[in-house]
Amino acid sequence: MTDVRDRGQLKRVFIRTYGCQMNVYDSDRMADILRPLGYGLADTPEHADLVLLNTCHIREHASEKVYSELGRLRDAKRERRAAGRDLTIAVAGCVAQAEGEEIVRRQPAVDIVVGPQSYHRLPELLAEAERKSALGRAGKRLPGAGVLDTDFPPESKFDHLPTPGGVRSGSAFLSIQEGCDKFCTFCVVPYTRGAEYSRPVAAVLAEARALVAAGAIEITLLGQNVNAYHGEADDGSRWSLAALIGRLAEIDGVARIRYTTSHPRDMDEALVEAHRHIPQLMPYLHLPVQSGSDRILEAMNRRHGRDLFLRLVDRLRSVRPDLALSSDFIVGFPGESDVDFDDTMKLVEQVGFASAFSFKYSRRPGTPAAMLPDQVPEPVKAARLSALQSLLAEQALAFNASKVGSVVPVLFAEAGRKPGQLIGKTPWLQSVHAEGPVRLSGRITDVRLVEAHANSLAGEVVTAAYEAAA
Ligand code: SAH
Ligand code: SF4
Ligand code: F3S
Repeated sequence: MTDVRDRGQLKRVFIRTYGCQMNVYDSDRMADILRPLGYGLADTPEHADLVLLNTCHIREHASEKVYSELGRLRDAKRERRAAGRDLTIAVAGCVAQAEGEEIVRRQPAVDIVVGPQSYHRLPELLAEAERKSALGRAGKRLPGAGVLDTDFPPESKFDHLPTPGGVRSGSAFLSIQEGCDKFCTFCVVPYTRGAEYSRPVAAVLAEARALVAAGAIEITLLGQNVNAYHGEADDGSRWSLAALIGRLAEIDGVARIRYTTSHPRDMDEALVEAHRHIPQLMPYLHLPVQSGSDRILEAMNRRHGRDLFLRLVDRLRSVRPDLALSSDFIVGFPGESDVDFDDTMKLVEQVGFASAFSFKYSRRPGTPAAMLPDQVPEPVKAARLSALQSLLAEQALAFNASKVGSVVPVLFAEAGRKPGQLIGKTPWLQSVHAEGPVRLSGRITDVRLVEAHANSLAGEVVTAAYEAAA
């Protein structure tokens, strides 16, 4: 095959995505923005002219990974330059927003730093970086160009993004809400993503239709606080998430709807009821609670206690008894005692989660909790995390095992690691591996679940009678 670069027509971008689904969405959109500039996707940094790291700042570990990756890219850039070619390095996402100047200082090989609300300006930033870098090369001075854009611009990036490109395997993300005004005392998101903002209803519906036209049958609505959604409709009224989901369900071809991440405080009655009467709304809810201790929830500024969460779970299960619940937990928040931690374990036992994410508290510079006096020692955090994760793994396995023997609709998304293997999702967002032809990818197929693990299930495609006869 001819290398298209040899004909000088196409450049390649390699995008590495860290963090949450909103970053996955943003990475796809950055690829959409770069396509008209002649950038195709590269599958490794070695094959790329531009490497873009879309970063996450949520925990210390997540941020530090970025700097080690940048060190490797600097070396690659040196080698390229020695061979008379160039490598442009861009850092986007939440580390870019939080540490813009610091990134360029710590790693001068970086050409572009762009925040999560200003990446629609990438074309201008690339042109500027190219100009600066040419000057730098002439003077044999600047290793990178250091073009920074970490504004929260007055315009919304969403109004400047192209229509989404291709949908892989039937499932698409759609960001409808950005930023956060909740200011939990441990969290960087209000600083990295800015103030809460809801996209207008018409824009969301237009994007949903475009995604369906591009092959999506499942749409996952995204937001840091997705259920705080209050987008403006054309008549000036404000729509809740429940109203938006109701309208999305009317779009022909939308077979599955999901939303994430929700805050317990924003689960209104209409949204709970939507789980009863909207068949496309999948029976799965990710509802982070963080802790089971009222004292800690208060110190986290979560604005609700354990009771509100437990009552909410009861209401949700009364409208949708098979609802799979998922959550996020932080152990070792400053001041967390054995008794507080025990309250978390008891809450987990009481609720029974289908899946969950749990983390050791990570001290984030600039957040109020980082300044609190009673930081929990590392070994205590580690022991608590391990106890919590054992319990959660047990519950996940029990939930998966409860489905073994049943036939369930699975949306197959991608090919698995082994040839002939497909990976898909059940309505409860469980991962399923099954043998099957690639043509099932992007479709919903009945699968008999045969074996449960903590993080996935093995299944067998139930061949339709007419297919077997053919
Ligand atoms: N908006 C969501 C969560 C966004 S961040 C919500 O309100 O729940 C995803 C998860 O990362 C959080 O739910 C929390 O469990 C975890 N997290 C955030 N900041 C953290 C920190 N400083 N240390 C450890 N975990 C953290
Ligand atoms: Fe962070 Fe809290 Fe906002 Fe979630 S609600 S993004 S945890 S500040
Ligand atoms: Fe990380 Fe930013 Fe998402 S900090 S979790 S990428 S909003």
